[in-house]
Amino acid sequence: MKSENAQYSSAARFEVFTAIYDPAVAFTCREKTFKRALIAQAGLAQGQRVLDLGCGTCTLTLMILEAYPGLDMTGLDADERVLSIAAKKAAKRGIELQLDLGMSYDMPYEDASFDRVVSSYLFHHLTPENKRMTLAEVMRVLKPGGELHVADWGKPPNFPLRLAFFAVQLLDGFKTTSDSVRGMLPVYIEDAGYEGLETTRHIPTPLGSVFLYHASKPRTQA
Ligand SMILES: C[S@@+](CC[C@H](N)C(=O)[O-])C[C@H]1O[C@@H](n2cnc3c(N)ncnc32)[C@H](O)[C@@H]1O
Repeated sequence: MKSENAQYSSAARFEVFTAIYDPAVAFTCREKTFKRALIAQAGLAQGQRVLDLGCGTCTLTLMILEAYPGLDMTGLDADERVLSIAAKKAAKRGIELQLDLGMSYDMPYEDASFDRVVSSYLFHHLTPENKRMTLAEVMRVLKPGGELHVADWGKPPNFPLRLAFFAVQLLDGFKTTSDSVRGMLPVYIEDAGYEGLETTRHIPTPLGSVFLYHASKPRTQA
């Protein structure tokens, strides 16, 4: 499946920022707090196959593997450069994982091959069309009953958080982030046919509102 809009934004949109992406996110986004919460809600267990979609430098992927050593974990990202940073981070910690280059809306995986797909800070980089195509592609690669767990920017509940989010919009572009301001991601998830959608947490950060969601692929498809 090819998108008419085959493009992606690097971890911090402009390549020059990629090298400082990890410290910047840790400092400004309450990263450990929301990534720990995402891991806690994902119901991970040995024997599962898990995909970190838009894994970037693999901070979330490595946190998962530190909590669940030996989990069958794969990271996919569209950016070769962040994947090479991720590979070095993993090697330094002696952690093995599968890293794949690819687009979220055209993944190199068999149907029904993952128990969980986790994703943080990917969806606000995707155009509306690519959000829809990505959610359909995640549905394809999840096993029946498999779960999607997402952390991303969402609708700020007050003016200070709305104002704060302008900084992210200036960096990441208004074309993909205006959906976040309008709280559209849960709507896209429901429209894609997932069931049991829940918004599980709202985490205010210095750069805006991070929301956590989960939803499942139906066990039997209509
Ligand atoms: C803001 S970073 C988040 C990285 C990581 N998940 C984290 O939480 O730190 C967004 C990542 O999504 C990747 N990306 C953007 N569009 C993509 C797409 N269509 N398919 C796969 N990866 C994509 C970028 O290369 C980047 O590494």
